Amino acid sequence: MNRFTLPRDLYHGKGALEALKTFHGARAMICVGGGSMKKLGFLDKAADYLKDAGMEVEIFEGIEPDPSVETVMRGAEAMLKFQPDWIVAIGGGSPIDAAKAMWIKYEYPEITFEDMCKVFGIPSLRKKAHFCAVSSTSGTATEVTAFSIITDYNKGIKYPIADFEITPDVAIVDPDLAEMMPKKLVAHTGMDAMTHAVEAYVSTANCDYTDPLALHAIKMIQNNLVDSYNGDMDKRDSMHNAQCLAGMAFSNALLGIVHSMAHKTGAAFADFGAHIIHGAANAMYLPKVIAFNAKDEKAAKRYAEIADLMNLGGETVCEKVDLLIKYLRKMNDDLNIPHCIKNYGADSYPCDNGFVPEDVFLERVNDIAVNALGDACTGSNPRQPSVDEMVKLLKCCYYDTEVDF
Ligand SMILES: NC(=O)c1ccc[n+]([C@@H]2O[C@H](COP(=O)([O-])OP(=O)(O)OC[C@H]3O[C@@H](n4cnc5c(N)ncnc54)[C@H](O)[C@@H]3O)[C@@H](O)[C@H]2O)c1
Ligand SMILES: [Zn+2]
Repeated sequence: MNRFTLPRDLYHGKGALEALKTFHGARAMICVGGGSMKKLGFLDKAADYLKDAGMEVEIFEGIEPDPSVETVMRGAEAMLKFQPDWIVAIGGGSPIDAAKAMWIKYEYPEITFEDMCKVFGIPSLRKKAHFCAVSSTSGTATEVTAFSIITDYNKGIKYPIADFEITPDVAIVDPDLAEMMPKKLVAHTGMDAMTHAVEAYVSTANCDYTDPLALHAIKMIQNNLVDSYNGDMDKRDSMHNAQCLAGMAFSNALLGIVHSMAHKTGAAFADFGAHIIHGAANAMYLPKVIAFNAKDEKAAKRYAEIADLMNLGGETVCEKVDLLIKYLRKMNDDLNIPHCIKNYGADSYPCDNGFVPEDVFLERVNDIAVNALGDACTGSNPRQPSVDEMVKLLKCCYYDTEVDF
């Protein structure tokens, strides 16, 4: 038996934020990040709409990018004091993911972070509160997914919490919120969405329900992302929908090792002053993983189908896979994203000497490989790598060398 789960309601289109006015409840807690939503006026708007709906509103502010276990625990404490019956998370993937984890801890105060990370092991929620997610970036699609990514900074590891229990009750996909994204965020989140759609399409858990969502998202991202990056606002609005469709696909078809590697490298070099931003990591690793997975015949055929959908040409499956890899690398160039970790600057832009020193990378690569294999996204990858292969793959992602194994 398979399961396909999405939020019960999805409000979309310009001005959809107003849907908050129709909510029923006594107390709503808004969870929000570092300030962009406040500065742009959306936080006040959301609070006013909820007050219009007759609710008392409290705001939990300052959730950092790549949220920590500690932030989750603080937020849950605030919820235990305020006792909301609605949790409304507004912003990028970070505040929404943090709020999802806070929600679990609010409903089950005794639960440990370790317990939360047991894949599909979350007890029933919604005994205390319902959850609404309002996304302001066009990439993670966490507003519709069963995932939350929390970073344990003591270990330098990102942990995915995965369970349909944390699929929000309501998603609001209002492109107004995403229009003011800085270019770099457009690029990173857009390639995150592309990776979601491609990984979902070749995942071992793909099905007739997820395939059309993944394929349509890929076509939309091909048609809209680079122009959105260059300032076309209509295309930026379309990207907000495209990333959400990709999210509906991957929340149900799951992902693959591009994400396993991004999760386990993201914070692994934080002691050198930067993160490898999630979307940028995906953009760098996706072409390498396609080359690796394409050694599996079934996966190669699926990549070729993607290439056909994108009208990339080619006669044989092999040519089509190569053209897909080339196309994705060209997208990275157009979006000013490097091709490998060696050339990944602390500011995320391409440079000759990136922030991750070679000797440090080589020292840590074995541990990272083991962690990546243990990531929740590895199980649905179409080709299962050995530790040795994962080390080799990560090295190709460091040096931008060809994947020939
Ligand atoms: N839950 C999932 O299914 C899922 C999927 C992929 C990634 N993730 C996780 O999501 C996180 C990344 O989320 P993200 O890429 O959305 O970024 P983010 O939430 O980390 O935000 C990045 C920065 O952009 C700012 N920002 C957000 N919206 C803005 C806007 N509209 N205008 C201007 N600035 C804005 C934020 O204040 C922040 O400084 C990572 O932790 C990643 O691991 C989760
Ligand atoms: Zn992602």
